[in-house]
Amino acid sequence: MRWITSAPVALLALPTPISALIRFQCSQLVVERLDPLVTPGEVPSPHVHQIVGGNSFNATMSPSKDMPGESTCTTCQFSEDFSNYWTAVLYFRARNGTYQRVPQRSNAGFEGATGGGMTVYYMQDPLYDTAQKSKVKAFQPGFRMFVGNVNARTKDEAAKFRQLTYTCMSNAGSREHETVAFPQKPCRYGIMTSVRFPTCWDGVNLDSPDHMAHMSYPETGTFESAGPCPATHPVRTAQVMYEVIWDTSKFNSKDDWPEDGSQPFVWSFGDASGYANHGDYVFGWKDQALQNILDTSCYASSCGGKTQDITAMNKCAGLKPTVNENIGVDDWLTALPGGHMTESR
Ligand SMILES: *[C@@H]1O[C@H](CO)[C@@H](O)[C@H](O)[C@H]1NC(C)=O
Ligand SMILES: *[C@@H]1O[C@H](CO)[C@@H](O)[C@H](O)[C@H]1NC(C)=O
Repeated sequence: MRWITSAPVALLALPTPISALIRFQCSQLVVERLDPLVTPGEVPSPHVHQIVGGNSFNATMSPSKDMPGESTCTTCQFSEDFSNYWTAVLYFRARNGTYQRVPQRSNAGFEGATGGGMTVYYMQDPLYDTAQKSKVKAFQPGFRMFVGNVNARTKDEAAKFRQLTYTCMSNAGSREHETVAFPQKPCRYGIMTSVRFPTCWDGVNLDSPDHMAHMSYPETGTFESAGPCPATHPVRTAQVMYEVIWDTSKFNSKDDWPEDGSQPFVWSFGDASGYANHGDYVFGWKDQALQNILDTSCYASSCGGKTQDITAMNKCAGLKPTVNENIGVDDWLTALPGGHMTESR
């Protein structure tokens, strides 16, 4: 199968050799202004997102309906993973003030995934721990969470979310020098955003008003240093991480960059600092599928779960958008969808 044969390529792209880890690709389901977690029922939502996963994704996704369990297919490699994973979308702002969407590319080894999509990880232990032996609890039906602060525009405001980063990639394997602000120079291969969610659950609530309070970072140290979970959030979950690669290559000419020396990329809600990096997660694995895989010491897609190849993933991609508007794929927009303009304070 393509996944297995491509694994060594993917391995090369990681900082150290690993032998046990859940790591897989999802093709892009749809790119549009919907956000069933933060603004359920709102059509359109305030800013553009790129979404992967189960095809029952829609504007409401009430947890009581067990969505995304109603999906009939998924754009993810694990065919029993109907979760939805999403992030904001990156735009390039030209000197004349118009915007164009930055395309995405998949991680090495996952070429051909529609729209580039994203690579998703569920880690029991740090990425560099080859054993992945810790016992962690899988999320439950109806579980969802958010991480980040859409309004963060300063380093201090972003500091609460130390694990939301950018990597300026010179090649497919670049993983060094993660920053919390946007890279300030052109990145030949692209800009990777890494979104790492907190890993301690209160064990009771599937969601919370800010979609974050039911989760916590470890009390001391980090997930990577095996810091203990606080008493308020005692249940250790897997660390969910997204890697999204923004293929900036066609926007890398310094002649097109702002004359004041600033960088030209901006999130779909207007943040040009990068400090407002954020991600959304709606759990949707079938039955015990995720727990079963987490309980297996394994690598990437060879974890015993049911998988599908890129062709099957891509068949599920291309969901018809609910919101009919120009999101600036090839056109230059005078404002970001929803009327946002570049701003930083
Ligand atoms: C989303 O899907 C659910 C389940 O199929 C449906 O009940 C709901 O009306 C849909 N919401 C929207 C806004 O389409
Ligand atoms: C704005 O800049 C872009 C990129 O350089 C260019 O393609 C586009 O034609 C310009 N639009 C106008 C109205 O000048």
